[in-house]
Amino acid sequence: MAAGTTSTGDGPAASTGRQDPPANKLLYLRPSYWDERFEEEQHYEWFKDYSHFRHLVLKHIKPTDKVLEVGAGSSRLSEDMYRDDIQHITCTDLSKVAVERMRERFVGLPGMVAAEADMLNLPFDNESFDVVIEKGAMDVFFVDSGDPWNPQPEAANRVRAMLAEAHRVLTPTGVFITIAFGQPHFRRPFFEAEGLTWSMKYETFGDSFHYFVYSLVKGTKDPSKSTSLQNAVLPNAVDMEHENMDSEDYLLKSGLSDEED
Ligand SMILES: C[S@@+](CC[C@H](N)C(=O)[O-])C[C@H]1O[C@@H](n2cnc3c(N)ncnc32)[C@H](O)[C@@H]1O
Repeated sequence: MAAGTTSTGDGPAASTGRQDPPANKLLYLRPSYWDERFEEEQHYEWFKDYSHFRHLVLKHIKPTDKVLEVGAGSSRLSEDMYRDDIQHITCTDLSKVAVERMRERFVGLPGMVAAEADMLNLPFDNESFDVVIEKGAMDVFFVDSGDPWNPQPEAANRVRAMLAEAHRVLTPTGVFITIAFGQPHFRRPFFEAEGLTWSMKYETFGDSFHYFVYSLVKGTKDPSKSTSLQNAVLPNAVDMEHENMDSEDYLLKSGLSDEED
């Protein structure tokens, strides 16, 4: 089946009730900000919609896999995967309002479950999902990270906690798929941290600006490839080209590079 048609971050937004970007990007860290936003916003896709990266995620997911999406917000990613015959999807967010909206949308879709869940403390058993997927949710934890080469401890701790939870709920050969702005040289030290048994692979999509689809298969780590934040390799350049990016995507990206606000 073809992917469903969705509105995107760079597409028409008026019909979706989309909100203006907040004046202060630190609001992205507040649950109350998201609840208020989702009272109005029916649908918004961060970092483009499923049609742009469908081919990159479907190769990691079997129709019978148990899939968990975290930080889903008002995205239609889970419904789009469901239309592609992925049959068991638990779609979650910290925002009660977002989850109420999901429950309304999932009526008549057996196998689609909506649940409130904090990515930092998932209410699920160990090894209960074959796939964990997120789009733009982990990036939120970087908005106050400061220097990306030396992230603030609070931000780094949130990212580590999220990764530990995703790793915990995955089956021994499960895959964590993360769709993000964050470039590999910034993400690798987190993904390859001690205690995480997956290894990092990634592909890109997008035109003038590239987004990343990371796939981390549990149990595949090569111990010789462990890195630390101190060993990160400097990039050739920070991509400042953003004319074709949605303005709010750019706001989030500005927390992920070394530019000043
Ligand atoms: C940038 S939006 C991305 C939404 C959606 N995944 C998309 O691609 O359009 C970040 C989402 O993360 C959610 N979120 C923020 N902190 C969270 C947490 N600790 N646990 C779960 N969700 C969280 C927000 O409510 C929001 O829906």
